Amino acid sequence: METFERILVACGPDLANHVRPGTAAETAARMLWIEAGGNVDQFVRWLKRYLAGDQPEYILGWQLFDGVRYHADRRAYIAQDDSLAFLDRLVAEAQRLVVLRRRALRICEVGVGGGAFLCALSRRCAAAALPVLDWLGLDIDGAALNVAAINCEMAQLRVRLIESDILAELETDAAPDMIFAYPPWGNRFAPGDRFTGTEWELFHRALPQISCYVVGGETRVHEEILEQAHRRFPGSEVHIFNDYLPQSEIDRVLALHPNLMVEPCGPSMTAFAKRG
Ligand SMILES: C[S@@+](CC[C@H](N)C(=O)[O-])C[C@H]1O[C@@H](n2cnc3c(N)ncnc32)[C@H](O)[C@@H]1O
Repeated sequence: METFERILVACGPDLANHVRPGTAAETAARMLWIEAGGNVDQFVRWLKRYLAGDQPEYILGWQLFDGVRYHADRRAYIAQDDSLAFLDRLVAEAQRLVVLRRRALRICEVGVGGGAFLCALSRRCAAAALPVLDWLGLDIDGAALNVAAINCEMAQLRVRLIESDILAELETDAAPDMIFAYPPWGNRFAPGDRFTGTEWELFHRALPQISCYVVGGETRVHEEILEQAHRRFPGSEVHIFNDYLPQSEIDRVLALHPNLMVEPCGPSMTAFAKRG
């Protein structure tokens, strides 16, 4: 038996029975065991917190995203690997925009959260020698912005972080070339919220609630970004990850916004795109 399995058995059935082979719990427990560096008491403390519903990233205080470690804590969303395809897509869009506009860009994320995604995008743009004049990170959640400040400082990224409901606090003369978002997706008040009773529900509960639940319907943030951008920043291109939305909702938003398209984002995901 491997050391990990022996330690798990030694933890007793109350803990071990919740860590079934091949489950997300096993992946998390293995990660905690590695990080505990052989300290069994530390591992048991962490495993108890995990089984009580804490995310491993919050327990450890860091998350890995796009191959880089970022600070993580309960104040901000944990960037997910499913957004890596969106990252690829945004770099390609930025490349196209630089050629089109022949100048350095101003790029703005609505819902920057803990900033890992924005930092990763800035690294990718730097690696592709893409000129970016200004980085902006907006979020309704001031506590999450404090996490973003830590991560941007660690990444040596100069960014303006603004507490804002959608784009409301961004001055009109600071029009971004590109506005992008990976918005929350759950409908807190829908009786049949799609995630209730799934393993996603536990993940959602561990996060800051505004990072995964929307007041007013699951496409409310998408629609407000599109409406505000159209009204206040008509020259901005808008890209919004939408893969987790049901097709009926995607179709409904498309019907409301004539210049909006749905474009592939990696082999199996999609995003809304509205070009200026
Ligand atoms: C799914 S998280 C994405 C965070 C970040 N992009 C990442 O990957 O780490 C969604 C973010 O949108 C923010 N948010 C939710 N409603 C918002 C609103 N009305 N205005 C601005 N930000 C909002 C949440 O606070 C959260 O940080």
